[in-house]
Amino acid sequence: MTAKPRPIRKAVFPVAGLGTRFLPATKAVPKEMLTVVDRPVIQHVVDEAKAAGIEHFIFVTGRNKGVIEDHFDTAFELERTLADRGKRAELEALQREVPGAGQASFTRQQAPLGLGHAVWCARDIVGDEPFALLLPDMLHHANRPCLAEMIEAYNQHGGNHIAVAPVPEDQTHQYGIVGVETRDAKVSRITSMVEKPPRGTAPSNLHITGRYILQPEIFDLLQTQERGAGGEIQLTDSMITMAKQPGQAFHAVRFDGAIYDCGSKIGFLMANLAYAMARDDLAPLLKAEIRKLM
Ligand code: G1P
Repeated sequence: MTAKPRPIRKAVFPVAGLGTRFLPATKAVPKEMLTVVDRPVIQHVVDEAKAAGIEHFIFVTGRNKGVIEDHFDTAFELERTLADRGKRAELEALQREVPGAGQASFTRQQAPLGLGHAVWCARDIVGDEPFALLLPDMLHHANRPCLAEMIEAYNQHGGNHIAVAPVPEDQTHQYGIVGVETRDAKVSRITSMVEKPPRGTAPSNLHITGRYILQPEIFDLLQTQERGAGGEIQLTDSMITMAKQPGQAFHAVRFDGAIYDCGSKIGFLMANLAYAMARDDLAPLLKAEIRKLM
């Protein structure tokens, strides 16, 4: 029997992006703090990680992102006011959201050099253990959280895992794309990867959705990774190199839920609708209001 793979305890959230697609909303407010219904986008993604058993949350932030740190801290005055007003339920809900002492870390990416560089900035906090990586723009909506499914697959196969889902052929150039051994399997060995392939050259239509489980050896590769697509240090390029190393298999875990790219206006609006529709307290009212609008 093979040994059980090492547990995934830590998750990295790269939140340094400028959010230029959302100006002027993101001039003073980080894009990760825009709300989907009544929770910031980043909170939804942290919730997904928590539901998968993650214990330590590592945020790679940047300038003007301090409010993210505040969001995951105790808000003393607010809690005091809620307590004084007897709002117990609200107070407890707020307190449940805050990571325990020492369970959240923040580091800064000083220059916008790309996703690969942002992940590399977390190397010392992650240390020598496999970790999860969640891109906060991409909300994964499903009954079973995406990362939980991935950890289940990881516990079975070990190695590295990437969540994938099909996209229309005319969009493959916007994403990382993978080729797999068995097209329709829930979990399949990855046979090729490419970051933002030119139109007509993608090995499949399965795109990297923004959820990863990676072995710590990725950090050594990122350290010397040259710039790739878009002139940025690309995580995918280091993953391609790592996949060639012995014992570093990459698996694709097919995600069957809905994905909303909250970095785009339509994705963000659709996320708000979908998350509200999934709530009993909002869905009936919202449906009635939408009917009026149509
Ligand atoms: C990044 C990854 C890409 C992935 C995408 C998902 O690209 O590099 O492989 O498909 O996230 O959103 P970015 O969106 O930063 O250009």
